[in-house]
Amino acid sequence: MSTPGTFYEQVGGEPTFRFIVARFYEEVAKDELLRPLYPEEDLSGAEERLRLFLMQYWGGPRTYSEERGHPRLRMRHAPFKIGLTERDAWLRCMRIAVDEAELAPEHRDQLWQYMEMAAHGMVNSWF
Ligand code: HEM
Repeated sequence: MSTPGTFYEQVGGEPTFRFIVARFYEEVAKDELLRPLYPEEDLSGAEERLRLFLMQYWGGPRTYSEERGHPRLRMRHAPFKIGLTERDAWLRCMRIAVDEAELAPEHRDQLWQYMEMAAHGMVNSWF
């Protein structure tokens, strides 16, 4: 169940997150820096995990944690070298996805601010 009035509901619920994350991974699949970081040949598992995580974060169903436990995203990213270049590549893909979702400007800005903050928080390699 999701709570009415949450950001998740306001932006259109699951279909909106489904669109954004699918569009994001279309870009990742073409990105020479990012694509090799993903251990699985098929990106659909990664796509589902990110979609469920974002839905939960913004007030939607808590399926991510039911399936995966506490997010601990920094820990889960520790195996991958994420420098400033990887962060920027990730944000480039996400920017396209968020813009194409055509959210209301205040929702788009709120989502984008979060993405920038979260991506920066995932940097684990400074040299
Ligand atoms: C998993 C890369 C930022 C959320 C992963 C994986 C890679 C990766 C390689 C493993 C794929 C898999 O799950 O099969 C990156 C890179 C980033 C980045 C290069 C650059 C900054 C972020 C951000 C978020 C995020 C900002 C959240 C807003 C997730 C989630 C998973 C994941 C939810 C699945 C975790 C799980 O195993 O449950 N990421 N990521 N990532 N990433 Fe990222």
